[in-house]
Amino acid sequence: MSAAIQFNNVSLSYGIKDDAVEVLKAINFSVESEEVISIVGPSGSGKTSIIMLASGLETATKGSIKINSQEIVGLKENELSEVRRKNIGIVFQSFYLIPNLTAVENVSLSLEANQQFNLEKDAENLLDEFGLSHRFHHLPSELSGGEQQRVAIARALINKPKIILADEPTGNLDSANSDSMMDLLFDYTKKSQTSLVIVTHDNSIANRCDRIVEIRDGEIV
Ligand SMILES: Nc1ncnc2c1ncn2[C@@H]1O[C@H](COP(=O)(O)OP(=O)(O)OP(=O)(O)O)[C@@H](O)[C@H]1O
Ligand SMILES: [Mg+2]
Repeated sequence: MSAAIQFNNVSLSYGIKDDAVEVLKAINFSVESEEVISIVGPSGSGKTSIIMLASGLETATKGSIKINSQEIVGLKENELSEVRRKNIGIVFQSFYLIPNLTAVENVSLSLEANQQFNLEKDAENLLDEFGLSHRFHHLPSELSGGEQQRVAIARALINKPKIILADEPTGNLDSANSDSMMDLLFDYTKKSQTSLVIVTHDNSIANRCDRIVEIRDGEIV
């Protein structure tokens, strides 16, 4: 079984020369296909940076990053977006829904780039699965935090990605909403044989994962 995500000696620095801050220091880690891992560590340790690198939204200063065996360091922007489209679904902490689009439109939008048909139907099916059949045509401002996050998760899953990256997906939710959100993500991951990487501060979530990766000061401990 080949790794879904493979980081080899990956460093990330912001700024240049004397002002450079090394945020990740030659880290090595991999996520196998169908593996569920959590990334934990103090604020500022580099967790979001790992998610940004794995999704090609940030560029490594050094090292190699492979997504399903494909090297992504050095790819051009359009090639990176292709890798994302084919492989990766991302859930951000602060939902990032588009305010003037309805729930169905927010979910189906990301499909357009994939040139699939019947986008709205797929989006509706997924939202229905997530208990939002009565909220299809609501705008984000008309949804609760938990509902917005379910829309954001549906959007991440609509392309049927084999890798899901979730950066504190329950960070803005109360514990009941947080639990049902994690059930959705874990169930989906299992059912669709997907890898899942969850950044979390919540021990009960971390403990539900196959493995916990701890990061401190830009290094894996
Ligand atoms: N664009 C940037 N320019 C300069 N420094 C940055 C930039 N983005 C992040 N950093 C720094 O990189 C370090 C790691 O940030 P990162 O967002 O990965 O931390 P984190 O572990 O996700 O923290 P948190 O738990 O608070 O979300 C921090 O010290 C942060 O200040
Ligand atoms: Mg973060």
